[in-house]
Amino acid sequence: MNSSSPIAIIDSGLGGLTVARAIRATLPYESVVYFGDTARLPYGNKTAETVSRFVAQIIAFLRQYEPKHVVIACNTATALALTMLRELYPDLSISGVIDPGAKAAIIAAGRKVTPVIGVIATDATVKSRAYERAIHSRRRHARLICRPTPLLVPIIEEGRRNEDPLVKLALQQYIKPLMDRGLDVLVLGCTHYPILKEPIEELVGAGVSVIDSAEQCADDVARRLQEAGLLRGQQEEPGDLHCYVTDDPERFARLASRFLGFDVPTPTWIRADDLYKDKEFLPQMDTDEHG
Ligand code: DGL
Repeated sequence: MNSSSPIAIIDSGLGGLTVARAIRATLPYESVVYFGDTARLPYGNKTAETVSRFVAQIIAFLRQYEPKHVVIACNTATALALTMLRELYPDLSISGVIDPGAKAAIIAAGRKVTPVIGVIATDATVKSRAYERAIHSRRRHARLICRPTPLLVPIIEEGRRNEDPLVKLALQQYIKPLMDRGLDVLVLGCTHYPILKEPIEELVGAGVSVIDSAEQCADDVARRLQEAGLLRGQQEEPGDLHCYVTDDPERFARLASRFLGFDVPTPTWIRADDLYKDKEFLPQMDTDEHG
């Protein structure tokens, strides 16, 4: 692994592309390998055991690229699996999206003594209480209201637009009760949600800061690479982006531009079964029993 090795970015589907977009904007000369586990999405209603196994398989697969850093661009996988993944792959540098999001929320809360911070996220992320831990360890008196918003990922993966009545209704239903409790900050605790940032901002109004952790996450990756001496210097061309998916590459390519702001070449389709066909590919995990 050296400075020309790529950064690997992993999500259950399209959502992690919001992080890929920010990383490409912050670090344009870095190459990125993106993996969207579209066949097994959503992760947000699965157990820690299952999500950890899926992401461990993906990292084992991506190791062929010798990534200089792996970003778990999925709040659910960060909440449920990051600690375990770091133990499983001690030689890899791996980061997630929750700490950068929590830091951004605290900055946005400003000097208020007891800011009210809402977090919308998948069921699994909310149940894990990862945001409570990340925010309260930095700001003990913040009042947190975490709410699962499970319909948003399928709505987004379906490619529904901001003005779609179903999008508006779902946002109203989920976010209105939080606003009634006097929100100061609203954290988009799922990497899919920044795609709906505009209607969310409209709904909550100018008095509430809406936090999308993608940019903080990109800054965090830049800092880690800088500290490790692994930043790629300025090149003539920007770095490449290569995507893998576990299902329907055409659909992914069609929807990806909304997340990235530019078109992606059709991703490579790797079947989820092929990720664990060769058990030697995987590190010591309980694959016989569960895989
Ligand atoms: N984008 C993911 C997250 O940040 C998960 C969506 C899902 O697969 O449920 O939580």
